[in-house]
Amino acid sequence: MLNPTYDFRGRDFLALGDFSSEEIQFLLEEAIKLKQMQKKRIPHPYLQGKVLGMIFEKSSTRTRVSFEVGMYQLGGQAIFLSSNDIQLGRGETISDTAHVLSRYVDGIMIRTFAHAKVEELASVASIPVINGLTDTHHPCQVLADLLTILEHKGKLAGLKLCYVGDGNNMANSLLEGAVKVGMDIAIATPVGYEPDEQVVAQVLALAAKNEVEVTITTDPVVAMQDADVVYTDVWASMGQESEQQKRLAEFAAYQVNGKLTAHAKSDFIFLHCLPAHRGEEVSVDIVDGPHSVVFDEAENRLHAQKAILKALMGG
Ligand code: CP
Ligand code: NVA
Repeated sequence: MLNPTYDFRGRDFLALGDFSSEEIQFLLEEAIKLKQMQKKRIPHPYLQGKVLGMIFEKSSTRTRVSFEVGMYQLGGQAIFLSSNDIQLGRGETISDTAHVLSRYVDGIMIRTFAHAKVEELASVASIPVINGLTDTHHPCQVLADLLTILEHKGKLAGLKLCYVGDGNNMANSLLEGAVKVGMDIAIATPVGYEPDEQVVAQVLALAAKNEVEVTITTDPVVAMQDADVVYTDVWASMGQESEQQKRLAEFAAYQVNGKLTAHAKSDFIFLHCLPAHRGEEVSVDIVDGPHSVVFDEAENRLHAQKAILKALMGG
């Protein structure tokens, strides 16, 4: 029998804050096993005959392709449901969509704007729901990020992650992920662009318990001090296109470049969820330079998500 602590069957994957440190560790171990099997071309059809419906209300390269390929490698199938094409985009309710999809497919992955929409979908659906990015969370990305850091650094606990830029979905999910695995985290944003208040409050409460240091500052140099992992993301996320010009000016001092990373440890690794805007949030020499592991990170979306899919939809 499965250890009940790690029995994910039927659960949703909406935010890392919903999972224990042990559960996150378990998913990382599963991802490593699935990655090894895939590399050795050992078949692993844990989801044979299962179908994942993938609702996209925003663009995607990595999330769409990695979930689709992941389902295929697990012996199942994925259906791409663009909100331009399904009735959700014409005003059908999220609740009716949840009821109907629950009769056809075995799991739903959704990328949308408001996190509350994903929560509503999950509360109505009788099948697992996976958050493929909302305005406030991107948990699948951070599971892949943790896997990448573990592979390159050999550990997670005791490291320091520095995130510089917008206090967006990435910043929120990185905060939740870091404290769960015992990693110190420092976030530097301009005034007015801090991470979500509720996430910060929850993370601070847990940080004290887990003896992890959480720093939220406006000073990128302070955040960067002795960092093992350096992370940034776009200054204007999907849905914020109209703020692009204003943000370019307000974030100008927050570019991750050689001058700033000089304050990190000499063997720091650089991560970015991608897509990257070279010359904006990150300089070319950093994102394309020797410290960068962004394509290992992108690959790990596949392996980390296969662990999530197997855990939620398998058995
Ligand atoms: N990092 C990430 O989620 O990429 P996509 O927007 O291409 O899915
Ligand atoms: N913060 C970015 C992440 C893209 C993967 C966005 O939401 O657009």
